This record gives sequence, C-alpha cells and structure tokens, in this order.
Amino acid sequence: MVSTEIIRQRESLPVFPYRQEIIDAIKSEPLLVVIGETGSGKTTQIPQYILESFPEFRLIGVTQPRRIAAITVANRVSEEHGSRLGDDIGYCIRFDDCTSARTHLKYMTDGVLLREATIDPRLSHYDVIIVDEAHERTLETDVLFGLLKETHRLRPELKILVMSATLNVEKFSDFFNSCPIFIIPGRTYDVAINHHRDAKISSLKSTYVQRSVETALYIHTQEPPGDILVFLTGQNEIEKACRDLEGLDRDLNYKTDVKHFEDVRGLVIYPIYATLETMEQKAIFDDPPRYTRKIVFATNIAQTSVTIPGIKYVIDSGFVKQKTYDPATGMDALLVVPISRAAATQRAGRAGRTASGQAFRLYSRESYEQMEGDTVPEIQRSSLLGTVLSLKKMGINDIINFEFIDPPDPAMVKNALKQLFLLEAIDDTGKLTTLGNEMSIFPLSPFLSRVLIASSRKYECSREVVIIVAMLSVDEIFVSPRSAEKQMDADEKRREFYHPSGDHMMLLNIFEKYRDSGYSRDWCRDKYFNYRALSMAKSVRDQLRELMVKHDLPLISCRLKNYQVKDDGDRHRKKRRNSYQDIKYNAEKILESFSTSYYINLAKRHPHRPVFYHYASATGPGSEGIDSNSSLLALHISPTSALHPDNKIVRVDDLDWVTYLSVLYTNKALMKVVSKVKLEWVQERLNLFKKLATANLDGSYGSDKSESNTLEGSDKVNSAVTDAQKVKDKD
Ligand code: CDP
Ligand code: MG
Repeated sequence: MVSTEIIRQRESLPVFPYRQEIIDAIKSEPLLVVIGETGSGKTTQIPQYILESFPEFRLIGVTQPRRIAAITVANRVSEEHGSRLGDDIGYCIRFDDCTSARTHLKYMTDGVLLREATIDPRLSHYDVIIVDEAHERTLETDVLFGLLKETHRLRPELKILVMSATLNVEKFSDFFNSCPIFIIPGRTYDVAINHHRDAKISSLKSTYVQRSVETALYIHTQEPPGDILVFLTGQNEIEKACRDLEGLDRDLNYKTDVKHFEDVRGLVIYPIYATLETMEQKAIFDDPPRYTRKIVFATNIAQTSVTIPGIKYVIDSGFVKQKTYDPATGMDALLVVPISRAAATQRAGRAGRTASGQAFRLYSRESYEQMEGDTVPEIQRSSLLGTVLSLKKMGINDIINFEFIDPPDPAMVKNALKQLFLLEAIDDTGKLTTLGNEMSIFPLSPFLSRVLIASSRKYECSREVVIIVAMLSVDEIFVSPRSAEKQMDADEKRREFYHPSGDHMMLLNIFEKYRDSGYSRDWCRDKYFNYRALSMAKSVRDQLRELMVKHDLPLISCRLKNYQVKDDGDRHRKKRRNSYQDIKYNAEKILESFSTSYYINLAKRHPHRPVFYHYASATGPGSEGIDSNSSLLALHISPTSALHPDNKIVRVDDLDWVTYLSVLYTNKALMKVVSKVKLEWVQERLNLFKKLATANLDGSYGSDKSESNTLEGSDKVNSAVTDAQKVKDKD
C-alpha cells in the first residue's frame, strides 16, 4: 500500500499540475525536450506518469549519469508505486542488473544504454527512452544523443525524451530536429549570495575544506534554523570535514555560543558521495530531529542529481573533481578544478527550493566573474578510447564525421585511434580487428579488456587477473575509520596483505583471503574492508569469468607448484615484522599482462628521492637531466599503496620503474595502484607509441588543409604501421 503521505508528496511537486499536458505531448510527439528546475519531479514523476498512462508500452528506459542516482531513484519510485524493486520498476548499472521480465520501467546509467545500443542499435525492447540529466553532458549521454538520432530514423515510433535542468536547452531541441520544448515552471525563492570579500579561487585549493567547515560552524552558531548543504569534491575531504565539524560541535556551548539556541540545540551531519552506503541513509532525505540542524557535505551529486529537502544555506567551495584528459599518459585523470559560473548558479539555487535562502561562496565576486561560463562537456575533455571502440563495434567507422551535439577535438579522436591501434583493437585502416571485437565483449575500459585477453591468451594467468580486474572495477574497498586509534589498527591489519611487487598483487591477496573467510561480512569488518565493495568484486569476477568462458578465453592460473620461486622483494622478507603471504603466483606474468595496456603509465624513480617521473620525461631527450632541480611534474606513490615508503615493504632504492593505474591530482600528483615493473616488458610498445606520437606532431597526417581528407571515411592510423606489424607478429 502506498501511504497517503507519499501521495501527498507526489501531488505537491511542481510537475504534478502538468501531468496531463505532458502525457498529451508525449502522445503526439516522438521527440520531446522537457526542462524543469532540479527537484521539480522530472526524474521520479514523469517516467511514472508514462507508466500509468500507457499500459501498452513494454519498456520505458531512463538514463542517469550516475550509478548511485539510478539506484536511489529506482528505489524511491518503486516505493511510490507500491511495488518491489526489480518488479515493475528496476535499475541496471554495470555489473548489477536489478530488473526482471516483469520490469516496465528501468532506470539505468547512460553507459548501460550505450552498451545495449552497441548490441541492438534499434533498441527494440524499448518504447520510450528518456535521457535524463542531459545538462550534465557526460560523455555517454553525448554519444547516446548521436545514436538516438539514428535510432529515431530507424524507428520513428520510439518515443525519445530529453530531460534537463538548465535553461540552455535550445541546443538539445535544435539537435533533435527542432523538436518541441516542454517547460515546467519552477517555484524558486530568492537566494541571497554572499561572496567572500577577497579570496581568489586560485588561492583556496589547499584551504577550502577547512574554510567550508568554519563557514558551516558560523552559520550554525549565528543564523536562524535551516539546513546546510556544503559542496566539496570527494570522499576523503567529505569525511574529513564531517570529522572536523563533529569535533567543533562537541566543543560548542550551545547556551552561550549558538545565537538561536531556542530553536537550534544540536547538529546532525551527513556525508554524500558516490557510494551506496551514504545514500542509503534515508535520513538524509528526512527532516532532522526537532531542534537540530542538518548539515550535508556532498559532492557535485547534490548539484542537480539529488535533491535534499529543507536546505536553506548553501556553502560553495568553488571546486569540483573532474575527469580530465592527461595528454602525458593519454588517459583520463581526476583533477580538482574550479567550477563554472553555471555550476555556481545551480549550487546557489539549491538553497531556495522551499523558502528563501542564502549561499555562501568561499571565493570573491571577482573570482566568480572570471570563472568559465559553462562547464566544458566531458566529450571535449576525455579520452575517447572507449567511445571510439563502441562506435567501431556498431560499424560506425567514420568517427570524425559522426553526428555529435558538440564534436570532440579531432586530435583527441586521432589519439584514441592510435591508442586502439597500439592495443591492436583496430588495424591500420581503422577497422576493428578480431581482438578489438573480443575486447568489446567486456563492459570494461579497453585497457582492462585488453589486459584480460592478454592474461588469457598470452601470459597464462587469467584466473588471477580476472580477480584483480574485478577488484579494480568496484568502489573503494578500504574503509577509513574515524578514530585515529582504529586507523592504526587498520594500517596494522593491512600489512598482512602486502606484496613486495605492489598493489596489483595486494588486491589479489585481499580477495583470496576474503574468499578463504567464506566471503564473510565479519571478516571484512574486522579487517576494515568495505563488505559491499568486496562482495561486488566477487560478483564482477563471476560475471567476467562467465563472459570469458562464453567467448572461449581460457581461464588459466599462474599458481606456482611449490611456492618457492624468488620474487624481487624476497630477500628482505625475513627482516620485516610481518611476513608476506607465501609467494604463490608468478607475479611477473600478471604484471606483464597489465603492461600490455598500461605501458604508458610508467614512471621512473628520481635517483635520490622517493618521487617518480613519467617515462616520457624520464627517457626523452635530456632525461639525463633529472636531478634535484628538475621542474618536471613529480609523481608520488599514494599513501594507500603498499609501496608507499612509510610501509617499508620494499626499500626505496629497490624501486626503479613502476606502473600505475591512474593519477589523482590533489595538491600532489598521486599514483594509484602501483606495482614494480621492468622496462623491457614495455620498451617496444613505448617506442612505437612515441613514434606514432611524433608522427602526428610532424604533421605526417598531411597539411592542415588536407587533414579532413586523411581522416574522412576510414580512420587511417598512420605510416608507422610496418613497425607495429612487427610487434604484432611477435605477440
Ligand atoms: O528530477 P528532478 O530534479 O526534477 O526531481 P526528482 O529527482 O524527481 O525529485 C522530486 C522530489 O523527490 C524531490 O523533492 C526529492 O527530494 C524527492 N526524493 C526523495 O524524497 N527521495 C529520493 N530518493 C529521491 C527524490
Ligand atoms: Mg532529476
């Protein structure tokens, strides 16, 4: 039974009075853009209206840019609908399908729909596709736009809706054959904007977390009742902010320090970031207990995807963590960058949903005015490797001329083509190879797919690599406890899993011990692991294994017969306090598999210090010049890595070359998931990569004028092919 409270809530949303008009518009229009303020009920209501009004529709698909949003919205909507999640209403995210044959409304990530489209471009299971949160302009959403236009030509009866929270929607309408725009009038209240007097955004990078906490405390002690929403950039800093504010709250004397003591006598603090644990606390969406104030520290997810009721104050740090292409490695890195003016406006708007509110910007008005107007769409700042591979798989060979709403930089497309060529996913004429075809069966990045295949076909260690790949595909597995004492306990316990070669093998160790515990929740709690992440890793491993078996990729173990083979770190072993797990596997083979793809994520240690430099700077002309004065970007081993010097697993002098999975740029550049490698494993591929890179710089693609000719039709890679062929032949 659906409670009257839920019915009342549904009917109070701004979208409700327009229910019939929306239904009528959908009846008559195959393509429709819907715009409405965040929180007006687009995501939760419109799909339900369609479900209720068109019983003949078999399946309605709604895309969300974020996995977490897909899950929570599906949860909420099935509750509103009075059905069990997975029945009428379900969700599907990568590796987690919670739908059934009975499902008529399916919330999913844009990535999931994109994969479905690669297999069935007609999307024949669906009668309606809703691309939601279109304003977010994720890479996947942008590619979907292009594909859906084609699907519309193939299946004009398919209803396509684009829903967005921003005003700038003419662009969407123009793109979709000038289709009509349905506007849901907003009910917003005034928001007073307070800029910091003089703080330049560029100077805030190392202080905004602390300043956010101070500002929250200021509002809490000085301003009238009303909840506070604080925009930060990621899990670590959100946890830190929560801890710091809790500490300050404990020290408060409410009777003397808090101005509105008669109404505000306590504080409840919540974090929100992209893992389920925090979102599952339904309390975030509820009113706080009487006489308390709710403070939510959130990532960008609260900017437009998720609406927390009751917010009267917004604190805007001015920063966001953004996926950004790193030309040095040809891969995406996460970068903390200033937001755009459009984002600042959205953030402030969150304070005026139910009454007038206030926004506190930690930066000056001048800094605001100097911000970019709009956030650059992801497609123009990301690696296009996965996208290009998906499009090729669909038989779309001419990527440059694909119908994008905002086309990516042709140089980035070329880069992706080159990298795919080096991964042997495409041939020199730009056509998908057998290997490329095989890579696209996995719902993984092309890099990880390639690693899996190499581990199966060449290095004979796929049983182990499939586990490591699964571990790399789930949320953070380490729990960071709030108290210092527990943190020490956690650090101590972690030692048991360390492996002298580094983090890839550590992940394998963790999974195996988790398995040996009988996949026990208690074991995870005791060792400070996130149980949900580890059980997800198990499920991902099973799914990947199934795909491998289905596609005749052998599962082979590199387990050593009697564990005695020496590893590099072996000779230090006895000296360490905690002994490592017996050396069970041929770690070199496992790491060589990873080097097949991650040959460019290679760094060399500084001769005297525990910092590293990317290979391109370490081996290029003048590399002899790496010395203490070097101005090159220093890469550090992440503190969470087994190889971090403080862990004393290997002596720093024993590290020379390392590989890493990704770089996180905070105030330092941190390499994540780091292991020791040998240069000889990657030398050949690296040389070729460099050759292809300079070929491009030399302009051997032809002069500017003829550039489009070179790229038109087939995506030719270039003339370094004969060399590439040699490498391939060896494989
Ligand atoms: O998509 P749009 O931003 O227009 O709104 P929505 O996500 O459909 O949210 C409509 C209302 O449902 C908001 O007031 C949310 O606070 C509420 N909601 C909720 O209570 N619990 C959820 N899990 C999701 C939304
Ligand atoms: Mg929404």
